[in-house]
Amino acid sequence: MDALTITNLTKKFGDKTVLDKLNLSVPKHSIFGFVGKNGAGKTTTMKTVLGLLKPDEGRITVAGERVVYGQTKTNRHIGYLPDVPEFYSYMTPYEYLAFCGKISEIPAKDLKSRCCGLLELVGLKNEKHRIKGFSRGMKQRLGIAQALLNRPKLLICDEPTSALDPVGRKEILDILLLAKEQTTILFSTHILSDVERICTDAAFLDKGTIVLQGSVSGMRNLNSSKKYVLELADRKDTEKIMQAFTGLTLNQNHELVFREESGLLFSILHFIAEQKIPVQKLEHMEIPLEDLFLEVTKP
Ligand SMILES: Nc1ncnc2c1ncn2[C@@H]1O[C@H](COP(=O)(O)OP(=O)(O)OP(=O)(O)O)[C@@H](O)[C@H]1O
Ligand SMILES: [Mg+2]
Repeated sequence: MDALTITNLTKKFGDKTVLDKLNLSVPKHSIFGFVGKNGAGKTTTMKTVLGLLKPDEGRITVAGERVVYGQTKTNRHIGYLPDVPEFYSYMTPYEYLAFCGKISEIPAKDLKSRCCGLLELVGLKNEKHRIKGFSRGMKQRLGIAQALLNRPKLLICDEPTSALDPVGRKEILDILLLAKEQTTILFSTHILSDVERICTDAAFLDKGTIVLQGSVSGMRNLNSSKKYVLELADRKDTEKIMQAFTGLTLNQNHELVFREESGLLFSILHFIAEQKIPVQKLEHMEIPLEDLFLEVTKP
């Protein structure tokens, strides 16, 4: 059973269709990157999963239980970090977590150890200052601790790294990797390198629908994402191959670059063998997820 399943989700604001029959499956214990440009509908999807927005159509289940708009029952499985988390800024991180823990009825005997454990996880254990002086990164880290208080089966983070510098981003990614031990994580982002760094799975959202989804390793192995660089000893041979085949480009080092589409690699190798062309280098390159994303979301 998946931690989250969304089937044919449609959401309109007035006559604008923001989500259009969206399908998404988040496997248990995955770190799932939910990727989309600004305005693609990431936050709208997350709020619908939380039962805060009413879908026009579709079905959502969290840990196998159906989400019903306006009801919070399924939210007991979810920890949520909104895009702009708000806190009582006059409290210290411990006071804030303990306060949230009391509201959510964590047994008093467990409260202290739970809060301390989470503050340690997010690197705020020794932070005695009030939240009002916190950097954005510290606030995001505290927000993750808060979202994990109830030991959720699904942790949803809305762009936890987008506003942070590289150091702050790395801290959050490291925390999410640690949190993976205890939960499934869905986080939205438009930073593809963050997805490459920690995600096991990802989905690309474009124009209200998922244009590509699956394991990150599977995406890397997609045929269309394989690229080769071929360097020949003689420039004349390079030109010969350019003329004999379509779908090749020259880079600034006068190397031939091509995608492995419809057996092109073997055709070129065959040609090289037949003509006895000396080869300097043949290299397989992985296309960054960023290029794959740009390709599948092309207007
Ligand atoms: N309450 C609302 N009323 C009307 N339109 C809305 C509402 N909320 C969102 N939208 C529109 O829905 C679209 C998707 O917005 P959403 O906030 O879900 O995108 P997003 O992917 O989270 O973007 P970002 O990366 O900027 O956070 C946008 O065009 C937005 O203007
Ligand atoms: Mg958003």
